[in-house]
Amino acid sequence: MTRHLITSALPYINGVKHLGNLIGSMLPSDLYARYLRARGEEVLFICATDEHGTPAELAAREAGQAVEEFCAEQHKVQADLGEAFNLSFDHFGRSSSPQNKELTQYFGNKLRENGFIEERVTRQVYSIEDERFLPDRYVEGTCPHCGYDKARGDQCENCTRLLDPTDLLEPRSAVSGSTNLEVRESKHLFLLQSKLADEIRTWVNKHADWPVLVSSIALKWLDEGLHDRGITRDLKWGVPVDMPGMEDKVYYVWFDAPIEYISATKEWADEDPGNRDWKSWWYEADDVRYVQVMAKDNVPFHTVTFPGTELGSREPWKMVDFIKGFNWLNYYGGKFSTSQKRGIFMSDAIELLPADYWRYYLLANAPESSDASFTWDGFAGTVNKDLADTLGNFVNRALKFCASKFGNEIPEGGEMGALEKKLGEDLNARLASYNANMQDMQIRKAMQDLRAIWVMGNEYLTEAAPWTAFKTDPEAAAVSLRVAINLMRIFAILSAPVIPLTSQRLSEALKLNLTAEDWIEGDCYEALQVLPAGHGFDIPEVLFRKISDDDVAAWETRFGGAG
Ligand code: MF3
Ligand code: ZN
Repeated sequence: MTRHLITSALPYINGVKHLGNLIGSMLPSDLYARYLRARGEEVLFICATDEHGTPAELAAREAGQAVEEFCAEQHKVQADLGEAFNLSFDHFGRSSSPQNKELTQYFGNKLRENGFIEERVTRQVYSIEDERFLPDRYVEGTCPHCGYDKARGDQCENCTRLLDPTDLLEPRSAVSGSTNLEVRESKHLFLLQSKLADEIRTWVNKHADWPVLVSSIALKWLDEGLHDRGITRDLKWGVPVDMPGMEDKVYYVWFDAPIEYISATKEWADEDPGNRDWKSWWYEADDVRYVQVMAKDNVPFHTVTFPGTELGSREPWKMVDFIKGFNWLNYYGGKFSTSQKRGIFMSDAIELLPADYWRYYLLANAPESSDASFTWDGFAGTVNKDLADTLGNFVNRALKFCASKFGNEIPEGGEMGALEKKLGEDLNARLASYNANMQDMQIRKAMQDLRAIWVMGNEYLTEAAPWTAFKTDPEAAAVSLRVAINLMRIFAILSAPVIPLTSQRLSEALKLNLTAEDWIEGDCYEALQVLPAGHGFDIPEVLFRKISDDDVAAWETRFGGAG
């Protein structure tokens, strides 16, 4: 049987992630992992913080902390927020782990042995006052392409061009502001991607089922020609290069970060070595289907660079089978920005409302085929209509009515009839579509299916109208309430990958003892008959509260809305 390895792009350590990061990788991968587990599949779902590189060092410096201490603290913050959003990682690791040091060095040495890494003398910016080299973002200056005067050594934020620190005009140290800089020679390792380009292209071309967003980015990079890339830096924070003459260097963050997918699996296994085998997931793992989830800026590193590392090792490491890529979620048309603190961050969101509100909204509006835009109005609309009016209201009004007329148990009643037969058929059709879309990771479509399934609850009650039937034919009212409560069970099961907490509450109210492995398999008409007369229930607190115009206004002011 196939085993499923799922990785989410590793959130960078430099601060709490925003909703754009959440929907760009962590949340959709969680949805998929939860769905597959519910279908009884064996799943390993891995994530970690990406901790190396100059942004981590600079953020630590700004926080007045040593970088190790900063990363340890921020890892905890992100792990806790992941839990608060019910992200069901089997392991949430750290790219600064000893396991990742070992594996990164292993890959570096293998690539060198196989002739895919060579040493080159390069010209690096050196700060005389800071007594150190200034790689990547440690230098700021004016962009030679567009004249933007706060361009950073790795990239110009204004025109997005990739830069080399020595490209910048009027360069200054991001550490001290010193302009007393010079260019010094320094030896570095280069990954000879040009030698691997044909193999990488062949491998990319084998994956006709990848989304266009993903394959087009991969092919664009390959078509532009792969340059040999410097994969080391003159820094202290990072995985040290264990080669003679390279004692003061570390590997570049984009070299060690994807290797952490493997290392995090090792971290997971090392916690329980008697029962867990990391290598079986990654090495000669022909029975594993490996899915990666990420935003579009990450695609080149996962379709070209990391596969190059794996191929160049000349060993049978597991390569990705399917990549789900996302466009951007914008905030009122502009960008969410960690550095400018623009938008909504996971810590703010969870303070305002429980995770399920955000999970459903974000998944239903995932930036799949194009960029999407968050607005408070749109958020309130989705929550009020789909969660509060459609799902929540159905549950509460049916259970309340049932309790008031028949008590807190499913009432005796007669047989199901034509209406229920049709309901079963409609459910079968929608569930088939929901399953298909979940399997294909067509997330918006899957959420449309789920919403359509919820809508069937209200439509059924409207047609069966137990409130009026009760006066003339209490038996008939009882049947429709029994069916409605069985529908709630179906909803609790099918909604669990999306809104796990609410499913749990519903399951408790209906005294179901559902587990994450439950799913509706087989005919839904049968599923409408699982809970018999006499089965007890409690009436849960309102499942979803409505978001008022006042809330929207207050949140727009607090977080900066249209303006
Ligand atoms: N930290 C990167 C980002 O936030 C993603 C790294 S994914 C990895 O864009 F696989 F390379 F680790
Ligand atoms: Zn520029």
